Amino acid sequence: MQISYHGHSIVKIKTGNYTVLIDPFINGNKLTDLAVENEKPDAILLTHGHNDHVGDTVAIAKASDALVVAPNELAIYLGWQGVNAHGMNIGGSCDFDFGTVKYTKAFHSSSYTTSENEIVYTGMPAGILFTAEEKTIYHAGDTSLFGDMEMIGKRHPIDLAFLPIGDNFTMGPEDAAYAVELLNPKLTVPVHYNTFPPIEQDPETFKKLVKNHEVQIMAVGHTLDL
Ligand code: NI
Ligand code: MN
Repeated sequence: MQISYHGHSIVKIKTGNYTVLIDPFINGNKLTDLAVENEKPDAILLTHGHNDHVGDTVAIAKASDALVVAPNELAIYLGWQGVNAHGMNIGGSCDFDFGTVKYTKAFHSSSYTTSENEIVYTGMPAGILFTAEEKTIYHAGDTSLFGDMEMIGKRHPIDLAFLPIGDNFTMGPEDAAYAVELLNPKLTVPVHYNTFPPIEQDPETFKKLVKNHEVQIMAVGHTLDL
C-alpha cells in the first residue's frame, strides 16, 4: 500500500488497483500539489462537513464517478449534489472493494458553508480507520485530544496515524503528542498545520514532544510504503 500526503488533511492511499482520497481540499489549499482535474480516485472518504475537508469532493466525484463515503447527513447532502454517496456513522464499519472503513469518534463540530453563506448541518464529525492489506490507517480528522483514543488504539492496532497538530481548531502539538501515547501507532504523521495563519505550527516541535514513538514529517507530495 502506498500512502501520500498532499497538504492540510489530504491523504491519498493506493491499494491494489484502487485509489482512495481522504478529505480532498484542493482549491484554496495553498500547500497542496494536487489539481482537481488530475484526481481520478475510486473512492473519497470524508471525516466531516467543514469546507477545508469536503473541499473539491463534488467536482472530483462527478468527474471520476468515485464513491463518496461520509458521515450520514453529509452523505445525504452530497447525494443531493449528484454524487454517489454512502452514509455511515460513528462506530459503524463497512467492507468495500477497496478496503474496510470504520468511523470513530472525534471531538469537533461539523457543518458545510454554502456559497450562499448558509450553514448546513452535516452530522457528527469523525475519525476514520481504514484497513486494507492487513494494515490499519487512522485518520483522526479534526479533533481535540480525548481519552477514548486509547480504546481506539487497543481495539484496532494502528500501523499509521494522521493526527492534526495545528492548534486553534484541533489538537496542538502538546495534545497531539499525548494522543500518540494513547493511540500507540507504529508511525505517526502530523497534518492540519500551516495552511492558514491560525494553524501555523512547526512539525519538528511536535516530533520532539513525542517520546518512544516514531514520527515522520511528510513533505507535501511525499509517499511512503506500508
Ligand atoms: Ni473541521
Ligand atoms: Mn479542518
